[in-house]
Amino acid sequence: MNVALKQQLPNKPRVLPGCEKPGWETLSEEWSFWVDPASIQGEVPADIEGTLFLSCVGRNKIGQQQYGHFFDGDGMINAVTITGGRIHYKNRYVRTPKYVNETAAQRILYRGVGTQIPGGILKNMFRTPGNAANTSVILHGGKLLALWEGGKPWELHPATLDTIGEYTFEGGLSARQPFAAHSRLEPHSGVLYNFGVFGVPKPKLHFYKIDQDGSLVSNVSQYVGDYAMCHDFAITGKHAVFLLCPAFMRRPFKFLFGLNSVFESIDFDPSKKTKIIVLDLETAKLVRDFELDAFFGFHLGNAFAQGNEITVDALCVDTMDVMGGLADVFAERGDNFTFQEDGARLNRFTLDLQTGRVSRAPVPDSLAGEFPVWRPSLMGQENRYTWLGTIIENGTPYWFNAYQKIDHQSGELKIHDFGEGRFTSEANFVPRKGGTAEDDGYLLSIVYNYARKKSEIVILDASAMQQELAVIPLDHHVPFGFHGGFYDVVYEKVE
Ligand SMILES: [Fe+2]
Repeated sequence: MNVALKQQLPNKPRVLPGCEKPGWETLSEEWSFWVDPASIQGEVPADIEGTLFLSCVGRNKIGQQQYGHFFDGDGMINAVTITGGRIHYKNRYVRTPKYVNETAAQRILYRGVGTQIPGGILKNMFRTPGNAANTSVILHGGKLLALWEGGKPWELHPATLDTIGEYTFEGGLSARQPFAAHSRLEPHSGVLYNFGVFGVPKPKLHFYKIDQDGSLVSNVSQYVGDYAMCHDFAITGKHAVFLLCPAFMRRPFKFLFGLNSVFESIDFDPSKKTKIIVLDLETAKLVRDFELDAFFGFHLGNAFAQGNEITVDALCVDTMDVMGGLADVFAERGDNFTFQEDGARLNRFTLDLQTGRVSRAPVPDSLAGEFPVWRPSLMGQENRYTWLGTIIENGTPYWFNAYQKIDHQSGELKIHDFGEGRFTSEANFVPRKGGTAEDDGYLLSIVYNYARKKSEIVILDASAMQQELAVIPLDHHVPFGFHGGFYDVVYEKVE
């Protein structure tokens, strides 16, 4: 049975004021300021120095028109600098053509992945989605790049966040090659890996290797099946591991001729297999593939290899229904979705490269979650701890309101509840300077506080998961978003 995503999308009018739901509403202002130290609750640890770059969906509407999907709002980059116990905050929109032209017109001019241009088929025919640059941001080889799954990176000035322009690695990416929002940095070599999936009706998996200086040194393309979407991947020291879920572009002509959005043209087919493919990290040649009964997942955890066996973690759900909920986060879902029952759960897969055997098991005692992080220096090696956002019943369970720490060795689960009305997105693990224990560090996140209708930067003890060591209030809210990273760089000078 094919399940059309179109049938799962809510049939509700796109009208305001639904998109003013707290935490998602548009932030129009661009700021740059030092936080008043007197306003900080607790104390900023002296052993954090660096900058958190974090992407978010800065606006969900233009003029009086609401975008058709959470994924289509324009990207805003936040920079939180921590130096000498002081905090500097800055945010800037990425000046993509979509952002610039829609700002001037005050209406939707570009298709999105779940948004059609108002006005009918002719307005949408033969138009590809505009790059929203809204999914992640990385700093590598001196370049700060805002990322989106279906297009090129956008280069920003790392100190000012000013937009420099679309970035192709000096022509290394061809016109048709996208650069995914999820990269993996091999911690020993400093090499960055990334990929893209593009092509109708036969999509190709493009795999990129970027050296520590930021040069694209390998770009290999291959057909690995009709899988139309792939959001994330994992690496070991020798392999790249991809999760290919059975979501297929079944109505390409309806998309091309403007009848359907991208997501409306994709079917999740539970009768087909989910495939895990393993590529050689250096050559990108297929090492082995594995087939499992259908499931869906956005994010992978870490992976590591021991002999002929690869272990990889991934967040898994039975179907792609979650895409419907994300289409209209401003409306009540109108179904029985509960995060702990229906959200993604961390599963551990064991892949035997010699025999082709694969096993799958839920990580015991973990809660449903998203946004997995672990100590960055253990990328591709066995990690004991994984931290994940989750939604618990604390009176306000409509967005991520807690973090969980999973101990893969002892099975112990620790939870930090941000408390009623406080919501978070991705938290980044920041190792404590001089610390060597795997969990010796901090979870750094931006938390929306419903009571204040504003956001606060929160530094949490990642080991005990109890104490919010510092809560740094901002005078505005920061809309919810997706991914980023903490880097050992400081561009701001304390006044
Ligand atoms: Fe993601």
